[in-house]
Amino acid sequence: MTSLSVGALLHLILLLVFLATTSFFFIEKVDGREGLREFDYFKLALEWPGSYCHRTHHCCRQNACCRGSNAPTEFTIHGLWPDYNDGSWPACCGRSEFDEKEISTLLDDLEKYWPSLSCDSSSTCHGGRGSFWAHEWEKHGTCSFPVFRDEYDYFSTTLNVYFKHNVTKVLNEAGYVPSNTEKYPLGGIISSIENAFHATPSVSCSKGAVEELYLCFYKNFKPRDCVIGSIIQDDIYSSKNSCPQYVSLPTYVSLGLDGANDTNTWMPDNESF
Ligand SMILES: *[C@@H]1O[C@H](CO)[C@@H](O)[C@H](O)[C@H]1NC(C)=O
Ligand SMILES: *[C@@H]1O[C@H](CO)[C@@H](O)[C@H](O)[C@H]1NC(C)=O
Repeated sequence: MTSLSVGALLHLILLLVFLATTSFFFIEKVDGREGLREFDYFKLALEWPGSYCHRTHHCCRQNACCRGSNAPTEFTIHGLWPDYNDGSWPACCGRSEFDEKEISTLLDDLEKYWPSLSCDSSSTCHGGRGSFWAHEWEKHGTCSFPVFRDEYDYFSTTLNVYFKHNVTKVLNEAGYVPSNTEKYPLGGIISSIENAFHATPSVSCSKGAVEELYLCFYKNFKPRDCVIGSIIQDDIYSSKNSCPQYVSLPTYVSLGLDGANDTNTWMPDNESF
């Protein structure tokens, strides 16, 4: 092989650089998200505080498990996640950092229905740590383009979808009430949700207790099945989150803040107390 002259090599490099930058700008313009494939559907992840709060050892102001009688007693929001049909999902699709000011009018509802059940801060997409909401917006919310274009839209619509689909109510009406002694058939829980919303949810468990429940939606928020095809289904049921045939729906166990005025007896996890 004859070696390329320095001049030809330089031209080649310049051409490659030119191609790389122009195609980058082109992709950037087309979908605004650096060429990421658009997601297929939404998954609304709900968490059951009764199961999460059993593990709580630390109390702080931002941990909803520590609110005594004000602690959540219904499924709360974990997040609204854009997913792909093949079981994978996009993450961290934007460059903008979370700004709580943009959702200041929603904070009361978010505190109540989308609370953090932990004192730990969450990882964000730019190498830092932030609130639970910052994590959900940066990791998942930014990937919901073009359905949502901003933070306010993402959080307010997620709240509305949650209000429209009261899973706690559906389960209670079917007789699946929180209990630390009863076990309920997983199939019964799933079919009561199916009957209410006309789509199949999925459920994840920890130590036999329902930990999360997922409702899935098309991009226009019409309900759809969460699992499509046996491959994804096998994957879900063989995962570490799999539920046994009979599951529990534990009640929230008060951590003792209830009736206690002396908050100093509680050690905050971090300095933001
Ligand atoms: C869901 O239903 C339960 C039980 O009927 C009720 O207590 C709760 O307020 C409802 N939640 C929302 C967000 O509407
Ligand atoms: C907490 O403090 C308030 C106001 O000082 C008092 O009315 C209430 O009885 C106290 N509760 C308990 C359980 O000590």
